[in-house]
Amino acid sequence: MTVLTDTLSIGSLKLRNRLYRAPVLEGAGSAPDPAKVYARHFVPNVEAGLGLVIQGNTIVTPEGRTSPGMSVIDDKPRMLALKPLTDAIHKAGGSIVIQLGHGGVFALESWHTDYRPNRTHGPWAPSPLRAWMHAFHPGGIHVMTTAEVEQLIERFGIVASWAREAGYDGVQLAGSNAKLLHQFLSPVFNRRRDRFGGSLEGRMQLLIDIRRAIAREAGEDYPVLLKYTAVEQNPVFGGIKLEDGLAYAKLAEQAGFDALTPVIADAVPNTAICRGDYPGVSFQQKGLRHKLLKSTGSRLKFETLRLGTIIAAKRFPFSPVWNREIFRAVKRTTNIPVFAVGGIRTSAQIADILERGDADMVGIGRPFYAEPDLARRLLAEASAPTATATACESCNRCLLPQMLGMPGVCYNPEVNRTRVHRRKQTDPDVASKTEKTATPQAPAATGKQASVA
Ligand SMILES: Cc1cc2nc3c(=O)[nH]c(=O)nc-3n(C[C@H](O)[C@H](O)[C@H](O)COP(=O)(O)O)c2cc1C
Repeated sequence: MTVLTDTLSIGSLKLRNRLYRAPVLEGAGSAPDPAKVYARHFVPNVEAGLGLVIQGNTIVTPEGRTSPGMSVIDDKPRMLALKPLTDAIHKAGGSIVIQLGHGGVFALESWHTDYRPNRTHGPWAPSPLRAWMHAFHPGGIHVMTTAEVEQLIERFGIVASWAREAGYDGVQLAGSNAKLLHQFLSPVFNRRRDRFGGSLEGRMQLLIDIRRAIAREAGEDYPVLLKYTAVEQNPVFGGIKLEDGLAYAKLAEQAGFDALTPVIADAVPNTAICRGDYPGVSFQQKGLRHKLLKSTGSRLKFETLRLGTIIAAKRFPFSPVWNREIFRAVKRTTNIPVFAVGGIRTSAQIADILERGDADMVGIGRPFYAEPDLARRLLAEASAPTATATACESCNRCLLPQMLGMPGVCYNPEVNRTRVHRRKQTDPDVASKTEKTATPQAPAATGKQASVA
C-alpha cells in the first residue's frame, strides 16, 4: 500500500515523497533577480518536507506570456540565473521541475494594453479562429506556419537543455488551461491540415516532437512531464473527450513522457482548472479594478472578463478531488506515473488516492499560497490521515492578481488571519518567525503596489 511518505522514481529523478506543489504562479516575472523571488516562495515549502516543486509556467519565446508574472526564458543567461534557486531547493532536500509553455491565442499580446503583438510572434494560433472568438481578438492572430511550429519544437528542446544546466530536475510541458500546447490538442482550436493536425494523432504530434527535441538537446534521461487537458468541457463545440484524453495518454507514454497530469479544462482560460468561488471582491476593489481596466484598455473587455468569471464559477463549482475520474482512468491506461491535482485538501483524501492506486503523486496548488509550511502537517498525518482541510477556501481571490503579475500569495485576509492564529496556537515562536522568514504576504491591491514585471 502506497503512503505519502514513500519515495518515487520518475525516470532518473528520485523523489523523497509523494507530495508536490502544483504549478501556481509566483509573480517573479522579469524581476531583476527572479531566483530570489522563486526561492522566497518555494524554499519554505521544501523545508517543511515537500518532495517536489513544479514551478509555474515559464515561456520559451520573447512573447507568449499570459501574465506579466510569468518569466520569459528566451536566452541561456536568464535560465542560468535561476541556478541559485535550484541549489537552494536541493540543499533543503527537495526536487524542482520547471514548467515550460506558451500562451498562444490567449497570450498577453491578445488583451493587455502594455503588450502589443509584433508581426512575427504572438498571439500565435494553430488555426484561424472560430467566429465566436474573433470578438476577443480584434487585433487578429497569427496562424503558425509548419516551419514556425518546427522552430518552436526546437526552442523547447534548447530551453530544456538550459534548464538541465541550471540544475532543474526535469521539465513539465504546460499543455492545459487553454494555452498553446492545449490549443494544439484541442479540436476546437486545431483544424490544421499539415502533420500537426487533421486527426487525434496529428493534434498530439507537436507534443511528441517536443518530447523528442528535449531528448536530443537535454539528454534521453532528462525527465519530461506533461500536464494536459484530458477532458475539455466546452458547451458549444465538441472538445477533447475522455476517450481522446486516454488516447493522448497512451501516445504520450509511447513518446517517452515520464509522468502525466491529466486535468479537465475549458477551451478558454478560466476557473475550470481551479474550481472555486467567483472572486467578486477582486473586481470591486479599487486598486485591482483600476489596474484591470488599464490593462484591458476597455470597459467592455473588463465586463466580459467579469461575466466570464461569474459564469465559470457557476459552471465549475468547487468539489473535492474533482479530477479523480480522469486521473484514475489515465492511471489504469498507462504504465507511467500519474500526478493528481485539483481540489485535494485533506490528508484523508491524499491517503485514499494513494491507497487505491488512483495516482502516484498528489499535488496541491492554491493552498500553498495560504500555508507555505503545509507539507509538514500533511506528511505528519500520513500514518493517521484526518479530514482537516487546508486553510485555503478556494475563493479564487488569488486569480486576478496573478493575471496582472502581482505576487502569487493568498489575498484572502480572513484565511491569512486564521492561518497565523492556528500557527500561534501550535508554535509560540510563530509571531517572531513569520516576521523574520520571508514568507510572502499579500500586498494591498493598490495600483501602485501591484507592480507589473
Ligand atoms: C493563481 C493560479 C495560477 C496557476 N498557474 C498555473 C500554471 O502556471 N501552470 C499550470 O499548469 N497550472 C496553473 N494553475 C492550476 C494549478 O496548477 C492547479 O491545477 C489548480 O489550481 C487546481 O489545484 P488546487 O485546487 O490545489 O489549487 C494555476 C492556478 C491558479 C489558481
